Amino acid sequence: MGRLPTGGENVYVATGFAGWGMTGGVMAGALLASLVRGTPQRWAGLYDPGRFGSAVQSAPTFLKAQWDTGKHFVKDRLDTFADGTMGPVRDLRPGEGTVVRAGGKPCAVHRDDQGELHAVSAVCTHLGCVLAFNNAERTWECPCHGSRFGVDGEVVQGPALRPLERQDPGEL
Ligand code: FES
Repeated sequence: MGRLPTGGENVYVATGFAGWGMTGGVMAGALLASLVRGTPQRWAGLYDPGRFGSAVQSAPTFLKAQWDTGKHFVKDRLDTFADGTMGPVRDLRPGEGTVVRAGGKPCAVHRDDQGELHAVSAVCTHLGCVLAFNNAERTWECPCHGSRFGVDGEVVQGPALRPLERQDPGEL
């Protein structure tokens, strides 16, 4: 958050909230307003877009983030094909969710408080990572870029724009 190093004198940016847009957005508003007024906050340097230096200096951080995303993409897919790594549907208690293999594809299954099962594709509609269930929020969440979906598959938070494909829980 701050003045874009390569953007000229009056170009500011706020990004990288990683799912914390409600708090990060408010903080960014205060920070950017103070920069525009010429009275920067004491802590502005913590978020300065130029704090990592040149692209060469920031390459290790960038590459690690890409590696983590790639690791989730591959490992989470393999996990859904390894017996016993994901909880079976019959063991789901009300309010819980799990990813199982159905028809050769990852399937996200949730049991609601009435004991009814809801099933959607467990493949994120953004770039295809496998979702995991958040028991506290009762949402399907993507470990790669933070998309969140309701148990009905509807998008709660992007970057994904399309809902998850619904599946028939009767076939599980
Ligand atoms: S793959 Fe990017 S948010 Fe899911």
